[in-house]
Amino acid sequence: MLIISRFFMPACLGILISLNAVLVYSDSLDNPILDKNARFHPVVSQLGMVVSQEEIASKVGADILEAGGNAIDAAVATGFALAVTLPRAGNLGGGGFMLVHLADKNKTIAIDYREMAPSTASRDMFLNQEGNVDNQKARYSAQSSGVPGTVAGLLYALDHYGSMSIKDVLKPAIKLASQGFEVNYDLSDSLLQSKQRLQQHSASKNYFYKPDGSHYKPGDLFIQSDLSATLQRISKQGTDGFYKGKTADLIVDQMQRSGGLISLQDLAGYKVIERKPVCGTYRDHKICAMPPPSSGGIHLVQMLNILENFELMPMGHNSAAYIHHLTEAMRSAYADRSLYLGDPDFTPVPINQLIDKNYAKALSQQINPHKARQSKDVYPGLEKWVAAKNSESEETTHYSTWDKQGNIVTNTYTLNFAYGNGIAVDGAGFLLNNEMDDFSAKPGSANGYGLIGGTANAVEPYKRPLSSMTPTIVFNANNKPTLASGSPGGSTIITIVLQMILNSIEFDMGIAEATSAARIHHQWLPDRVFYEKGISVDSLRLLKSMGHDISTSSRVLGSTQSIATNGQYLVGSADPRRQGAAAIPQGN
Ligand code: GLY
Repeated sequence: MLIISRFFMPACLGILISLNAVLVYSDSLDNPILDKNARFHPVVSQLGMVVSQEEIASKVGADILEAGGNAIDAAVATGFALAVTLPRAGNLGGGGFMLVHLADKNKTIAIDYREMAPSTASRDMFLNQEGNVDNQKARYSAQSSGVPGTVAGLLYALDHYGSMSIKDVLKPAIKLASQGFEVNYDLSDSLLQSKQRLQQHSASKNYFYKPDGSHYKPGDLFIQSDLSATLQRISKQGTDGFYKGKTADLIVDQMQRSGGLISLQDLAGYKVIERKPVCGTYRDHKICAMPPPSSGGIHLVQMLNILENFELMPMGHNSAAYIHHLTEAMRSAYADRSLYLGDPDFTPVPINQLIDKNYAKALSQQINPHKARQSKDVYPGLEKWVAAKNSESEETTHYSTWDKQGNIVTNTYTLNFAYGNGIAVDGAGFLLNNEMDDFSAKPGSANGYGLIGGTANAVEPYKRPLSSMTPTIVFNANNKPTLASGSPGGSTIITIVLQMILNSIEFDMGIAEATSAARIHHQWLPDRVFYEKGISVDSLRLLKSMGHDISTSSRVLGSTQSIATNGQYLVGSADPRRQGAAAIPQGN
């Protein structure tokens, strides 16, 4: 890596970029996407780029690009590599959402590989005898696992939009699992933190801890032989290597031992669904993101629509006035989320009304510029508006890949909580999700992220739980992609992506500065503004005086992994909030 001061840049920028060097800027430059964010270490490439939460996995993707693969090949290889190197969120036993932009067709596709409720799931399965939600069962039991979608989703993307063989894209992950890799600080810390929970399950204890029960330390070699064998079955048999045969038998055996519901028929019946992205506009940009069963795209566009009615830039970034307007837009959107959102194959979701600019205008008019509303006085607003119109974990992980042809993948996938429900499939080497907690176990009760849901998101056999995952692509006025982003963070994902877009479009920040700027979050209930360190005490004092209940977030808000372009070259930005993330340019 080269540290380059601004004084050397004009002379060497062109040469270094053409050599595809990794540039770490120590000072600002006279370049529209670099100069404002120089101190935040963007990574530049004129070829392709991969940005993910874990450096080895980013390198796997970048190497696939260098070997002639496209952004989809790189995304699939990175996804399988993260299942080995980032076991808390990278996964085979979970699910997610992928947005693919195909440069030659100028078309964007949404791939839904969300987990599905098993056929024997039922609406009240997480209620105890008193009719209250049994959180232990919904979050940590084997019944908290939905039928995994990741393997089907990644292979669907490869089959339809990739150019390489399964064997070639799985090879790096198999090698990492069978030969092992050096544990970094992030993995070591995370395994230490989750020790008590994971060690309750014998397979998880054996897979993720040393024989004496201690956790792996930075620098230790971590080998996962059973996971390697599962990856090899997938490499040889495709989806059948996971959803049928030995892996499927091992999953069902684990279900029987632990009291879970997933059956061989559920696994064999799992389907990936290609959907139309939700797209909207903000000023002169187009924004495309994930449609239901993620709530991400709808509410991202809805909040941008509300905020477009205000002059945000003159308020100043992270000023009290700006945070107040953000908060009020978030409050309205999350109130709507609680009522209208669910799996669109089971419940009609009023997408067009929710992203209607006139509806957003009506919501914007309910915002008092000087005074906070109380969430108890804010209800899901669509019916009222339609009537008026007629009379009116969080431990998900995100990564982005971009190739030199301009194909883009922005992918968020998850086990839900860190390490899912903590139950590894004995003999198969991977952890299971606890995504069933994203259903609304009882209307009006909060899930693990404090999100309230209604009957639209009630548990039903084969249904997909509502998500907040928001893989997103932003296009400029000429319909050229300029930014790919997304984040983990459970309920906070949508508001994090919102702030990435506003930082970039409204406040003209470079991608690394947009990533690093302090974030806030509000989700209607609880009625509280969560904020990261870095919001000024002046802003906080003013927000309190407007009537906001404010609180420091106990966690950092998200971990975006983004790539932007100025049309000439790519700039990658790994979020500095969590250790281990890396933007790796092709050829590095
Ligand atoms: N499990 C978090 C989400 O899907 O939003």
